[in-house]
Amino acid sequence: MRTAQLTIDPAFSIGPADRRLFGSFVEHMGRCVYGGIYEPGHPSADSRGLRRDVLDLTRELGVSVVRYPGGNFVSGYRWEDGVGPVGNRPRRLDLAWKTIETNAFGLDEFMTWAAEAGVEPMMAVNLGTRGVQEALDLLEYANHPGGTELSDLRRKHGAEDPYGVRLWCLGNEMDGPWQVGHKTADEYGRVAAEAARAMKMIDPSISLIACGSSNRRMPTFASWEATVLEHTYEHVDYISAHTYYDPSDGDQASILASAVDMDNFITEVVATADHVAAKRRHKRKLKISFDEWNVWYESRLQADLDRRGWVEAPALIEDDFTAVDAVVVGDLLITLLRHADRVGVAAQAQLANVIAPIRTRNGGPAWRQSIFHPFALTARYARGTVLRTDPVSPRYDTKKYGDVPVLDTVAVHDEETGELTVFAVNRDSTDLPLEIDLRGLPAMSGLSFQSIVAGSDPSAMNTEAEPDRVTPRDLPTPTPDGGRCTVRLPAVSWSVLRFGPANA
Ligand code: AHR
Repeated sequence: MRTAQLTIDPAFSIGPADRRLFGSFVEHMGRCVYGGIYEPGHPSADSRGLRRDVLDLTRELGVSVVRYPGGNFVSGYRWEDGVGPVGNRPRRLDLAWKTIETNAFGLDEFMTWAAEAGVEPMMAVNLGTRGVQEALDLLEYANHPGGTELSDLRRKHGAEDPYGVRLWCLGNEMDGPWQVGHKTADEYGRVAAEAARAMKMIDPSISLIACGSSNRRMPTFASWEATVLEHTYEHVDYISAHTYYDPSDGDQASILASAVDMDNFITEVVATADHVAAKRRHKRKLKISFDEWNVWYESRLQADLDRRGWVEAPALIEDDFTAVDAVVVGDLLITLLRHADRVGVAAQAQLANVIAPIRTRNGGPAWRQSIFHPFALTARYARGTVLRTDPVSPRYDTKKYGDVPVLDTVAVHDEETGELTVFAVNRDSTDLPLEIDLRGLPAMSGLSFQSIVAGSDPSAMNTEAEPDRVTPRDLPTPTPDGGRCTVRLPAVSWSVLRFGPANA
């Protein structure tokens, strides 16, 4: 039987596991806002219309940062439409998703929701149909203490204290021809630099994110980043990356290797940013904000858009995720952690209903999709320092990514508690014995071994009728002997193994 080996040593540290890696995304798209996080009149909604069942699940998911309000939506959005008395707010056409936007939910409601959810807000400004002035206005409304027209307007609307939003995205996917206000890299780079410079004059404490590529397959990928950063490097703190993996073609071997592609994508964006830094003599290293990533049955989107005219909050891309999709999501999180030295923020897209870990029915329940579980467990246990693990693994062949390892891993060591957590994916359709060598750490005993197992029922999914079909399974906890142990990773699985000091 094929086996794999893993040696863990705290000397091989990558960097801290930043909480901001466990971000999510709320876009005015489909039923993410309306019927997702916000549904006045719902049995669980509070007096402001915030669904408490979704708030509870958001907290359980362990989300740290939430990006808002888009996405493609932001490129046609006027933020002023969404503040002030709800009865006065205009109904608008949202060109991105062919939807009527009622503006019943806007910036102030989002900030209230974020505070209730205990998450850090991350705002995007519209650099599609709008520009520097509107970005400055929004920042002044959100972050300036008072004594100016826009900051006093916020106070009049009930928010006495500034929101203090630290993370700001300079537009969204501006490289995409589908984007309202799509630009060339030079056009975008110029406006992003101008907006960034002026925004930091209002609030120098903010961190700014320039748009990178919408995915690694974009024909402009890498040259886009290079050109944009030539314009913006000294003014911004992050370059964004987005990626979605589509399992629609049924090629399980390839979809399970999606993280190999994400890994290469990150390496290439880092190389491009470092090239610009070297060329322009910048000492500061730029980080990546991986602010949209997920599994997405993307080929179904067009059918959703073709089916209807202009309507309010239609069901859009409400993908039901399988057990295999959960394994892929767990592996994408492993990849983000492995690059913790250069990926500083990440946001899974999206939070509720729209390709989301949380699903709801209007007027009905909310439930956890299969992909909820690897996210929640990673956010809970990835605390401390990320360690480099160079596993020895059997390999297999994929159509999309060629020859790839069967095993993918990362480890996180919490120096305070002494606990060590190993995250591991077995992409193979047979069980994989994994020998773990922990001799570099003080004597450890096993604490738990949980797995999302897809091998026996790859297409299993959680639905309203069966919300707990895919959940983490408890497996026999390993007992290290002389600093070594062997565990059996189930066929097609994502696992989390926890160890703690033996004498604690
Ligand atoms: O998350 C769905 C959409 O995917 C976002 O609006 C856009 O940024 C991306 O193309």
